[in-house]
Amino acid sequence: MRVLDTRGRALRDVRISVTDRCNFRCVYCMPKEVFGRDYRFLPRRELLTFEEIERVARVLVGLGARKLRITGGEPLLRRDLEVLVGRLAALGDLDLTLTTNGALLARKARLLADAGLSRVTVSLDSLDDAVFRAMNDVDFPVALVLEGIDAAAAAGLPVKVNAVVKRGVNEDSVLELARHFRGTGHVLRFIEFMDVGATNGWRMDDVVPAAEIVQTIAAEFPLEPIEAAYRGEVASRYRYLDGQGEIGVIASVTQPFCGDCTRIRLSADGKLYTCLFAVRGHDLRALLRSGASDTELDEAVRAIWERRSDRYSELRTAETARLRKVEMSYIGG
Ligand code: GTP
Ligand code: 5AD
Ligand code: SF4
Ligand code: SF4
Repeated sequence: MRVLDTRGRALRDVRISVTDRCNFRCVYCMPKEVFGRDYRFLPRRELLTFEEIERVARVLVGLGARKLRITGGEPLLRRDLEVLVGRLAALGDLDLTLTTNGALLARKARLLADAGLSRVTVSLDSLDDAVFRAMNDVDFPVALVLEGIDAAAAAGLPVKVNAVVKRGVNEDSVLELARHFRGTGHVLRFIEFMDVGATNGWRMDDVVPAAEIVQTIAAEFPLEPIEAAYRGEVASRYRYLDGQGEIGVIASVTQPFCGDCTRIRLSADGKLYTCLFAVRGHDLRALLRSGASDTELDEAVRAIWERRSDRYSELRTAETARLRKVEMSYIGG
């Protein structure tokens, strides 16, 4: 049965983080000074098992969820992830997708597609090797991510590419990315640098507004806005007038989209978060491990959603940016 929050928003999308670890150290997400040798990642026993994730997902689908997105950290670091994909695919006719940095995708794409994944989103912030290596901060080359993208496409998975744009770091990469992905059928989206978490040193000055990104591209390749693909879509879409495909911009900072936000997030250790910028989550793992029935789980989740009033991006200030919010690598974006 459908459930609405205090602002009349339905629960449609679920983002499921399967690990808080990552093999990259992107400067805007897991700065090395914080996520170094001494950082305490979640121990294995604290992670939800695939059975537990499947159970929560089934309850959420019962409450109206139609899209499940697997995230991390880097989700492909979780062993046998295709087994989870298979279990989630069996829950019904859902949009089942994955956000990955692409490093392990060349190896995994076929297995994931065979297990029932609908599509994939790959993060890639620049085609300039020096810029990309500096941004992922583990010296990972562009070429291997492109191989992952090709492998996904070859396995029949529709591909989106996400690029976070940070002022003075990769704004010069915008046009080259657009040029490269035009005509490939892959949908390229640019994301405004956000104040997620509490460690990425976010400043408004580092944000390149989506309008500026669109202008930069349109100056070389004329664009026109098009309708959202679905209600509550995070990206605003534009198509190339010459028919070479589309791009999207995710303008969470300059044009917040909380009004239509139908997303709930499940962390790798089983907490439910009703906003990307939340400080606290709701512990479902305790409930799962204390033998709660499906009815009890359903009631708990329903109560959490019915109390939801989040609209962080609409209220953002320099002060809120400094709150001790959960980290992106923990909650999966
Ligand atoms: P599609 O299903 O392909 O439309 O994917 P998506 O854009 O919902 O998911 P993706 O993982 O590609 O996320 C793109 C960017 O949007 C990431 O930086 C996310 O953190 C960000 N994002 C997704 N949902 C929200 C949200 O509810 N609020 C904010 N502020 N940002 C979001
Ligand atoms: N601001 C915007 N996007 C971010 N991502 C990670 N950290 C940030 C941030 N601070 C992106 C990743 C990935 C997506 C899930 O979120 O690059 O594409
Ligand atoms: Fe980069 Fe994604 Fe890893 Fe964060 S989780 S460090 S954005 S690859
Ligand atoms: Fe949804 Fe929170 Fe993002 Fe607003 S800031 S769109 S409420 S997740």
